Amino acid sequence: MNITDHNFYFWDGRAATLEEQALGPIENPAEMNLPLSLAIRRLKRHALYAKSFYAIYGVAPSALNLSQALADYQRSLETSDTPFDRYMQNQDSSEFSLSARRGLQIFNTKGKCFDCHFGSDFTGNDQFKNIGLYDGKSWNDKGRFEITHNPKDLGAFKTPGLRNIALTAPYMHNGAFKTLTDVIEYYNTPDKFVSASIGRDALLQQPLGLSAQEKSDLLAFLISLTDRRFTQKKI
Ligand code: HEC
Repeated sequence: MNITDHNFYFWDGRAATLEEQALGPIENPAEMNLPLSLAIRRLKRHALYAKSFYAIYGVAPSALNLSQALADYQRSLETSDTPFDRYMQNQDSSEFSLSARRGLQIFNTKGKCFDCHFGSDFTGNDQFKNIGLYDGKSWNDKGRFEITHNPKDLGAFKTPGLRNIALTAPYMHNGAFKTLTDVIEYYNTPDKFVSASIGRDALLQQPLGLSAQEKSDLLAFLISLTDRRFTQKKI
């Protein structure tokens, strides 16, 4: 969702385009584990897909047009109909609670979240940052470093967007945190989770010192970024 405005894809940014990204999960052993050639053979044999690919692309299914179709579908999943957006656009505060409003303030100031998660989708212009989830031992994904081999990128990951974040647990590149409450606890006191992290960003050197009320306000703000299109629940 909301992936149109990116310069890089995947947590370590290894794909430059949505088309390139789209083919990754098909072959990845941890995801679909399906040789691309077999996926394409199945599409060719499938009456409806074979016909539709001809109608749209003028040729049979191929790696190229399969990647284009998946990328175009993903481009249709842009969302901006949330309590937060309605409040920002026309000051309609009926669904943007006082708690969420205080949470927005904390996000922008004391919590320092906005320093990295800025922009309309909170993606911070796709900058790679180290939030402290690398210690070279049990937290051992080197992140962006695997792509650039630049020591500065050790443990750095692409700043992810936060729209619909309440719907997409677990969190972080390795799914280490099961809930948004855990994520907020982490940012508040990172050392309690990863005691000897390597290269953690200067913004996160000191505990944030958030009170219980401030943490629940921040949570209310994150939940207010949920678009109705993607959930049956009342937001
Ligand atoms: C120094 C930059 C930085 C700051 C400050 C920061 N973030 Fe992040 N945030 C990131 C990066 C980078 C990741 C991805 C880390 C990873 O994958 O291991 C991330 C991940 C997240 C995620 C999980 C996203 C997902 O899809 O898994 C949430 C939620 C989040 N941040 C919220 C916040 C909140 C709330 C704050 C403020 C309390 C905050 N961030 C402060 C850079 C930052």
